[in-house]
Amino acid sequence: MTNYEIRKDFPIFDGDKIAYLDSGATTQRPKQVIEAVDNFYRTANANPHRGAYELSIEATNIYENARKKVASFINSPSPEQIIFTRNSSESLNLIAYSYGLNNLKKDDKIVISIMEHHSNLVPWQFVSKKCGCLLEYMYVNEEGLLTDEEIEKKIVPGVKIVGITQISNVLGTINDVKKIVKKAHEVGAIVVVDGAQSVPHIKTDVQDLDCDFLVFSGHKMLSPLGIGVLYGKKELLNKMDPFLFGGDMIEYVYEQETTFAPLPAKFEAGTQNVGGAVGLAAAIDYINSIGMDTIKEIEEELTKYLFDELSKLDFVTIYGPKDLSKKAGVISFNINGVHPHDVASVLDSVGVCVRSGNHCAQPLLRSMDIDSTVRASLYMYNTKEDIDKLINGLNKTYDMFKKWIKK
Ligand code: ALA
Repeated sequence: MTNYEIRKDFPIFDGDKIAYLDSGATTQRPKQVIEAVDNFYRTANANPHRGAYELSIEATNIYENARKKVASFINSPSPEQIIFTRNSSESLNLIAYSYGLNNLKKDDKIVISIMEHHSNLVPWQFVSKKCGCLLEYMYVNEEGLLTDEEIEKKIVPGVKIVGITQISNVLGTINDVKKIVKKAHEVGAIVVVDGAQSVPHIKTDVQDLDCDFLVFSGHKMLSPLGIGVLYGKKELLNKMDPFLFGGDMIEYVYEQETTFAPLPAKFEAGTQNVGGAVGLAAAIDYINSIGMDTIKEIEEELTKYLFDELSKLDFVTIYGPKDLSKKAGVISFNINGVHPHDVASVLDSVGVCVRSGNHCAQPLLRSMDIDSTVRASLYMYNTKEDIDKLINGLNKTYDMFKKWIKK
């Protein structure tokens, strides 16, 4: 299938009114996902795990089948290791509260990359302050890459947790997570992988990566908002305390004591987002029907085109890797001397949707001595025409602002 054929499945692109280049923030949804969610609410909605009647049993089966689908999508050894959450942020908070606070002690070290989204950074600041441990950073070089030397220098004995994004949401840097996991395990640390920007785009195999935890969000991979995933190794999840308490995560409750349900229910308190899980399962079916290899090919071709076209604009600075084999379809840039929010507003006036600002990664931008960028991020439904609209919009922006730009 081509990106032009794929695009026809997305109702939001009917009439081709927008060039949507903000899939790093959230993707659009194909009709197959919208219809699956609609059908669930029309025909099968009930509270799962709660009712003895047929409709509730059907809702339970649908919910648990979605879990199996997610497990197989990332090659989890079992569905019990898939915990549904609201999003990557909630998954990361769950790990920080349930694993971090209970396993770290004074002077232990947590190491994360400077590229982390605030969601994989602020929880570790919280844990390090509470436990009296040290939070250290692996910094990137001028190209936005983590070097082997930096990994060797920072992941040393005493490090107990390593947090790493598989793809930077600002620079598009693709990190060698497998190598980082190997190094971390050598020093006895566990690894938390933020897959929010990678799982939708590259084939993910948690057993091959050997990561201890992996998180991702449904809404960045064609699913409804409000459904996310935490994968964890079974021995770790089994030992962890629940994160939230309430219905369905218990076994027996006495006046003073409670025993908890086994995985995955232990981490899923309260009525769950079955509609979201249905949408995520439909999104996985859709992605599988296209194939991760095809998605990768489409994105690589578009990333090269976007990078080459942006490089032709002498008033633009591009950030992050120039070696496109290490860069995903996420490109941050600035028009020199024009605030990114102004750029984004002019682009909006010509129907181009991009993100501008610090992208929830203030420490990274500060380390690069900038405070914000414009970011274009791609997915399987984008086309060269979307990129041409962006480039025309950038030329228009430059023409509007050039007399004000300080030389
Ligand atoms: N984390 C999302 C982004 O990078 C919102 O845009």
